[in-house]
Amino acid sequence: MTQQLSFDDSAAYERFVGTWGRAAGSMFLDWLAPPKQASWLDVGCGTGLFTELIVKHCSPASVVGIDPAPAQIAYAARKPVAACAQFRTGDAQALPFANAAFDIVASALVINFIPDRPHALAEMARVARPGGLVGGYVWDFQAELSPSGPFRLALGEFVTGVPPLPGAEDSAPSRLRWLFEQAGFAEVVTTSFEVTVEFPDFAPSTLAPGGRNHRRDQTEGIARRDTGAARRTSQAHRGSSR
Ligand SMILES: C[S@@+](CC[C@H](N)C(=O)[O-])C[C@H]1O[C@@H](n2cnc3c(N)ncnc32)[C@H](O)[C@@H]1O
Repeated sequence: MTQQLSFDDSAAYERFVGTWGRAAGSMFLDWLAPPKQASWLDVGCGTGLFTELIVKHCSPASVVGIDPAPAQIAYAARKPVAACAQFRTGDAQALPFANAAFDIVASALVINFIPDRPHALAEMARVARPGGLVGGYVWDFQAELSPSGPFRLALGEFVTGVPPLPGAEDSAPSRLRWLFEQAGFAEVVTTSFEVTVEFPDFAPSTLAPGGRNHRRDQTEGIARRDTGAARRTSQAHRGSSR
């Protein structure tokens, strides 16, 4: 049975995922190489971790973050980043925006958690302008290459039936590519990132970087660059060079 996760303890989420999410999100944005002064939608923004990276690294014209979890949105709205980003509750499967409202639609560590992924991707395509960019990344849960992977594998040595993480079956690159292609995207490009974070020890209270113990995890990134002749040539070139 696949478990449903609820995202209602935002402080705990930031302690656990924060370091990993910032490291992976920065790599994803480097790879995406987005244009500056773009209008962004951050789908499944959670506590605003990835939104902060967009603001810090991408010089956006505007950023809207949506997430169905009220606790996550309330937490994000209390952060300094809320001075230059809007946060609101909303579901990727029914995006509350007009067609072609954004230059860039991105999601960080979200796609696998969405129940109807094809529908959500179609929604993301709908609210992106023609020639815009839609992209996202997830942990490779299927290969247990996520921050919780070692724990889950160790648990599996002692108990049977460790439940799969939601959407793990759609977290491999080939499956992500298939989902994007099924949603009608053109020029789908995928890649994998390996993320390394160092911890001083294994104590739960020391999930901060700086120590000797290394953990490496893998995320899968996927992006679609849409039509628009001038843009397509250069972006397809950049995509194929990665
Ligand atoms: C692992 S967190 C990622 C949060 C944030 N993007 C980050 O990088 O830290 C997954 C987020 O997806 C959100 N989520 C789950 N189902 C969703 C849906 N149907 N539409 C949009 N977001 C969803 C959750 O509420 C949660 O905040």
